[in-house]
Amino acid sequence: MTQKILVLPGDGIGPEITAQASRILSACQARGLDVEIEEGLLGGAAYDVHGEPLPAETLEKAQAARGILLGAVGGPKWDKIEDLAKRPEKGLLGVRKQLGLFGNLRPAITYPQLAQASSLKPELVAGLDIMIVRELTGGIYFGQPRGIEERDGERVGFNTYVYSESEIERIGRVAFEMAQKRGKKLCSVDKANVLEVTILWREVMERLAPEYPDVELSHMYVDNAAMQLVRAPKQFDVVVTGNMFGDILSDAAAMLTGSIGMLPSASLNESGQGMYEPCHGSAPDIAGQNVANPLATILSVAMMLRYSLNEPALASRIEKAVGRVLDEGLRTADIASEGTRTVSTTEMGDAVLAAFERQ
Ligand code: NAI
Ligand code: MG
Repeated sequence: MTQKILVLPGDGIGPEITAQASRILSACQARGLDVEIEEGLLGGAAYDVHGEPLPAETLEKAQAARGILLGAVGGPKWDKIEDLAKRPEKGLLGVRKQLGLFGNLRPAITYPQLAQASSLKPELVAGLDIMIVRELTGGIYFGQPRGIEERDGERVGFNTYVYSESEIERIGRVAFEMAQKRGKKLCSVDKANVLEVTILWREVMERLAPEYPDVELSHMYVDNAAMQLVRAPKQFDVVVTGNMFGDILSDAAAMLTGSIGMLPSASLNESGQGMYEPCHGSAPDIAGQNVANPLATILSVAMMLRYSLNEPALASRIEKAVGRVLDEGLRTADIASEGTRTVSTTEMGDAVLAAFERQ
């Protein structure tokens, strides 16, 4: 059956980087990938045309798509919009919420060719390959009640940290299955010494463990996990955690690689429908200059092939092509170093496409 893919270029460098990723998608089509590719408006680009960041038409297309490829949204042009509901990032949050994309996969991979870009010693990060599985639609970012109110003559801010067993179980299963496909190690991160909600989290992970006997489950408090991540990151394989801890740890893990322009991500729901996007933002400072690194977006296409379209061979082919191009010494400005050749966004796209075809 022909499946639909929706490309949402978004704002800033979004259109430039998704254009390169779309070329790879077309190359996959030429090799038999049975998909229909559409484009849509999201974020500031949608606001400019429709007065809202997530127009009904885009949402309908997103609902019908098996995989969504997003560039990035936002930028100074829209920061003055007073109605918070109309800000570009609300478009992104809206898609996540409407599609129930609760499972956020954030790989942190250090390419051997780029290990010197890390702020850590190369030997600590060379060959690093961690997958952080972050719960994305629950936890303290969404819990009710929340607000700022007057109590006893001063203002008090409050949020609610809440997870149900079923929410924990479904993200736990994503993580255990991921660990089965990878290094068979799963570290669940919580703060069970202080927070009841994470005592429940730990219990549910323990309850699931016997169903995945080949996976070694461990637990770590989040403060220790932050330390371990910068002390000896290679001890981790798959990490599973809630929304807030995952937000922080995945950004820290991303920085270990030294190359934000290299990191893809996925957000999945229970049916395997997913949104795929680079971890970085819309980089307004370099937008329109043909210098942005398209590799995180190209690698997001590889994740889409693997996790939503069940095409692991094509996914590996893209990842190998990216490796070849790095071996050849080609670099966009953000990852350039001595002895490498600095290329533009489109030249990088050309090179990946050529390496993809050559295999
Ligand atoms: P950013 O990730 O856009 O940029 C941070 C720095 O990294 C900038 O110097 C930028 O030039 C550079 N950079 C980012 N991606 C790059 C790439 N592919 N190639 C080369 N250099 C790259 O984060 P920032 O500056 O905090 O946010 C800019 C805008 O993006 C804001 O409006 C923000 O709200 C939005 N944003 C959107 C996200 C999304 O759509 N998922 C995520 C993060 C930020
Ligand atoms: Mg973040």
